[in-house]
Amino acid sequence: MVSSFFAAIALHAALSTAAPLVTRQSNSTNCKVVPGDEGWPDTQTWAQLNQTVDGRLIATVPLGHVCHAPAFNQAQCGKLQSEWGFASLVWVPAWPPAEFMSTWFQNNSCTPFGDSSAPCDLGNYVSYSIDVRSVQDVQAGLEFAQSRNVRLVVKNSGHDFYGKSTGKGALSLWVHNLNSKALIPAYNSSYYTGPAVHIGAGVAGGEAATFASNHGYRVVVGSCPTVKAAGGFTQGGGHSFLSGIYGFGADNVLEWEAVTAAGQHVFATPTNEHADLYWALSGGGGGTYAVVISMTVRAFPDGDIALASMSINVANAGSVDAYWEAVSTYHAELQPLVDQGFVAEYMVTNDSLSLFGMIAPGHTADSLRSAMMPLLSALTSNGSSTLTTAAMSLNITHRISYHDLYAATVEPLMASNSFAPAVAGRFLPRAVIESNSTTWHTALRHATSISNSRYFASVTTLNARNRHRRAAVAPNALQPNFNTAFSSLIISPRWSNASPWSDAAGLVQELENDVMPVLEGVTPGAGAYKNEASWMQKDFQEAFYAGTYLRLREIKARYDPDGVFYGLTTVGSERWVSDSEGRLCVA
Ligand SMILES: Cc1cc2nc3c(=O)[nH]c(=O)nc-3n(C[C@H](O)[C@H](O)[C@H](O)COP(=O)(O)OP(=O)(O)OC[C@H]3O[C@@H](n4cnc5c(N)ncnc54)[C@H](O)[C@@H]3O)c2cc1C
Ligand SMILES: *[C@@H]1O[C@H](CO)[C@@H](O)[C@H](O)[C@H]1NC(C)=O
Ligand SMILES: *[C@@H]1O[C@H](CO)[C@@H](O)[C@H](O)[C@H]1NC(C)=O
Ligand SMILES: *[C@@H]1O[C@H](CO)[C@@H](O)[C@H](O)[C@H]1NC(C)=O
Ligand SMILES: *[C@@H]1O[C@H](CO)[C@@H](O)[C@H](O)[C@H]1NC(C)=O
Ligand SMILES: *[C@@H]1O[C@H](CO)[C@@H](O)[C@H](O)[C@H]1NC(C)=O
Ligand SMILES: *[C@@H]1O[C@H](CO)[C@@H](O)[C@H](O)[C@H]1NC(C)=O
Ligand SMILES: *[C@@H]1O[C@H](CO)[C@@H](O)[C@H](O)[C@H]1NC(C)=O
Ligand SMILES: *[C@@H]1O[C@H](CO)[C@@H](O)[C@H](O)[C@H]1NC(C)=O
Repeated sequence: MVSSFFAAIALHAALSTAAPLVTRQSNSTNCKVVPGDEGWPDTQTWAQLNQTVDGRLIATVPLGHVCHAPAFNQAQCGKLQSEWGFASLVWVPAWPPAEFMSTWFQNNSCTPFGDSSAPCDLGNYVSYSIDVRSVQDVQAGLEFAQSRNVRLVVKNSGHDFYGKSTGKGALSLWVHNLNSKALIPAYNSSYYTGPAVHIGAGVAGGEAATFASNHGYRVVVGSCPTVKAAGGFTQGGGHSFLSGIYGFGADNVLEWEAVTAAGQHVFATPTNEHADLYWALSGGGGGTYAVVISMTVRAFPDGDIALASMSINVANAGSVDAYWEAVSTYHAELQPLVDQGFVAEYMVTNDSLSLFGMIAPGHTADSLRSAMMPLLSALTSNGSSTLTTAAMSLNITHRISYHDLYAATVEPLMASNSFAPAVAGRFLPRAVIESNSTTWHTALRHATSISNSRYFASVTTLNARNRHRRAAVAPNALQPNFNTAFSSLIISPRWSNASPWSDAAGLVQELENDVMPVLEGVTPGAGAYKNEASWMQKDFQEAFYAGTYLRLREIKARYDPDGVFYGLTTVGSERWVSDSEGRLCVA
């Protein structure tokens, strides 16, 4: 879960030698074309593509254009300003295909908050999107992009942290409307026998969960209802409130349906001739190897499930020191609960720890309260603490369906998220919280106090030690450091849409230079979750892939030899650089 994110940097070269984006002074024939270039397809050529895809080619008009000359409209702009961010961009049913969420990559080029007398500039927006409805549409887009030397992106929900689902001058394959869903009551294969769910690439996590629940099942989806299950979530690994018992998203895939760069329509399973593609798509990163059309995943019987929420803060702990001592106690007592398959998501700031969801599959309200007794008594019984369960607003909710529980508790909280231009991520390895808890908490306290305490961590516990967790369907490319982490942290500053854009680059720099080194120092070599970190992550090949990179690069070479699929931090992305005008060029 994320409440503020999206980082990058203007001064990237100075900050990170491994930064994947460098600037070239001029374009060349080695560059993809952008509008205005000689090689850019003319209107008639785009019209032909439009015919090929039955009129579903959409030229980009950013939502924010109503806030810019000459289309400025006070009333429409005011409405957009009030809704801008997570809610407006993903809950509006008709949001346009090219919109994406990363504030940093939006780059103020056509947001509702820039200079209204300045024109709306497409900036990092794609130029055209194909509203994909079939394999043929994907093939047409791939063929067009390659034959015309146009940059290609695969776009689903647009949640990506690194702008991977957008790109200047690109043609986008917008797969959002591939929304088929089917229950397979008895999937049978050498690697799995049992119920399964088949979903199209554009099915959102919340939609998949609802569908499964209506049939009496659960599936592993993210804690954000609008993240697409078969998109970047499962392709990047995918942590879920249910991962404590069923493993990560990638662990549950039975087969992928995809189209390769050359337009070949394939099915990849753990045992067929595309087993290497199965392996890579299951955790090796979104938008890298092929265009996913659908996936089939394991389904599990629904049943009792409970969620606890509570808050520890300076006020209920009594003092700043007591608060941090309580945070440390909380983390010590959380470990055995995580070992039982619970997943907790919480936010830590300089003065509060808000646990908005600890999910306990198989539990009722009473049994979850019993399971939490050691944690609650450790927090409430010590010294001068004024902590009580009432003061902490402990609230336990029970349902007999995961999706019902989620809809009653976490889902409503997701709509109010906002997005900072600066975001980074880090794993907290199990070994560090076990043997160096004091050092860790000192670092966390320090990191959240930097720069007037504006940085905070959104934490998701992972499940390194859980013996009750289902084994993966088959070996996959899930980053191995996911499996040894106690939690994954997203670190970002408080940010408001009203904050001046001129602050953005400074925040990114501060996060990279001042905040992250504090946490990295106590978690050497820990790495970060490839979907929830910084686009300028140092040594991303190791931090995000942890030993799987070379094999993934070989598989990419087989399925995408020319590097049609590109995104910052993806496997093979070193091959490309951005020139001074934003063209993608061969490095
Ligand atoms: C509010 C919020 C909450 C989140 N919560 C969680 C969480 O609980 N657990 C978790 O693990 N992650 C979480 N994430 C991270 C999320 O999993 C990633 O951002 C993910 O990449 C989003 O995938 P998408 O397909 O929905 O988005 P997009 O931005 O559209 O795509 C992301 C990447 O996947 C590629 N891609 C998408 N669809 C396809 C396809 N069909 N074929 C090939 N490539 C494709 C794109 O090219 C891009 O590279 C969260 C993110 C946000 C913003
Ligand atoms: C390179 O860029 C210039 C303008 O910056 C443009 O006129 C020219 O057409 C571009 N070259 C190619 C091959 O697209
Ligand atoms: C594609 O064709 C449809 C139907 O004729 C039209 O509505 C749409 O505007 C066209 N798209 C572009 C980019 O011209
Ligand atoms: C943002 O825009 C500025 C000015 O046009 C440009 O120099 C910079 O590279 C852009 N940043 C990103 C992340 O696209
Ligand atoms: C299930 O698949 C296995 C091998 O993949 C096969 O031996 C078995 O007969 C199948 N069972 C059914 C019920 O189809
Ligand atoms: C509370 O007590 C436990 C067990 O006695 C101890 O390990 C822990 O450090 C204490 N926590 C606080 C906040 O004092
Ligand atoms: C407890 O949580 C439920 C579900 O989120 C909510 O409806 C209820 O109001 C909460 N109770 C209290 C006392 O906050
Ligand atoms: C704990 O900290 C010590 C001293 O900083 C360090 O040597 C050791 O490697 C750390 N252990 C872990 C598991 O990080
Ligand atoms: C925490 O930080 C906020 C500003 O981000 C500040 O207002 C508040 O006083 C701080 N709390 C403590 C206990 O320092």
